[in-house]
Amino acid sequence: MAKEFIVTPWNVSGDVDYKRLINEFGIKEIDGPLLKRIKKITGELHPFLRRNIFFAHRDLNWILDEYEKGNKFFLYTGRAPSGHTHLGHLVPWIFTKWIQEKFNVNLWFQFPDEEKFLFKENLTLKDTEKYTYENMLDVIAVGFDPKKTKFLIDTKNANLMYKEALKVAKKINFSNVKAAFGLNNESNIGIIFYTAMQAVPAFLPSVLAKKNIPCLIPHAVDQDPHFRLSRDVVGKLGYYKPASIQCRFLPALQGSSGKMSASMEKTAIYTVDNEKIVAKKINKYAFSGGRDTIEEHRRLGGIPEKDIAYQWLNFFEEDDKKLVKIYHDYKSGKLLSGELKAILIDKINNMLKKHQKNREKAKKQLDKFIIKG
Ligand code: TRP
Repeated sequence: MAKEFIVTPWNVSGDVDYKRLINEFGIKEIDGPLLKRIKKITGELHPFLRRNIFFAHRDLNWILDEYEKGNKFFLYTGRAPSGHTHLGHLVPWIFTKWIQEKFNVNLWFQFPDEEKFLFKENLTLKDTEKYTYENMLDVIAVGFDPKKTKFLIDTKNANLMYKEALKVAKKINFSNVKAAFGLNNESNIGIIFYTAMQAVPAFLPSVLAKKNIPCLIPHAVDQDPHFRLSRDVVGKLGYYKPASIQCRFLPALQGSSGKMSASMEKTAIYTVDNEKIVAKKINKYAFSGGRDTIEEHRRLGGIPEKDIAYQWLNFFEEDDKKLVKIYHDYKSGKLLSGELKAILIDKINNMLKKHQKNREKAKKQLDKFIIKG
């Protein structure tokens, strides 16, 4: 019997079977020919593409067709503030930055500061306001071009967004939303409306420019239900249906291929964590694919496929050669579990050191990203 798992924008649990997800969601695999096509334009492939971390899409070939005709797309992605940013959140942003650079395109980044307020019992609007600020610093720290990037904050930019959201909402009925998100009659009515707000940035730039511009949405695969619903609606409103490129989840430190949830407070690694905390979390919680004793480990070797430190290096160690060597050393028993964790700790701390520096500088750059009025 197939193992059970759940993937919706608000609940990811169980062992995610990505092959099955492709069928259930009706998305397309990113295959060899498509990778080749991207490489022709970008010159090289980002490790997230080489390693199949970005693994699925909708209409990506169409986006490339238009791009090659000179019809540039804009990027759209987002983050619903509910807590500090963790490493899993960075994955689609790092990739989005790469696309922005390689294709030289604009990005609209949405901060739906009402979303998690509506979904989480104990989260106040004051909390989400605070985390909107904190999360914006992280997004800026990733290195987006301030001249080509705009932040849309739902409660602050409601004047731009609300009219457009109404047009979307009018074309989606309750049973569609219920089915797509697994809602029931006890779900609050804000939740039912919310997906209309998430649809807006996919065509708002076209509204403002008074011309149709293709849209590409990089996102983690759990967000697909939103766009599955809104693609048709956006089309019916007379705009291009947004295309998407979708990634897997960074696994939780404790293992399981579910999403690393910000609510797993103790074990997620946040961009604001210091070196000691990073080392402690990885040493204490990272699920090991090593053996029970050193003797056994040397004899049988570790299991990289099960080892979270290795899995994380697969996301964050960009050097293929280094990664392959780590894989073989671990599998052969030459590299011990503690040593593997030490490599990861070093990698993450280096990454965060740079990120935290950028994050400090970001405080002075906010103005360049936020839409006034
Ligand atoms: N719903 C997303 C979250 O929970 C936030 C978001 C808004 C988003 N618009 C998006 C994510 C577009 C990806 C793409 O964080």
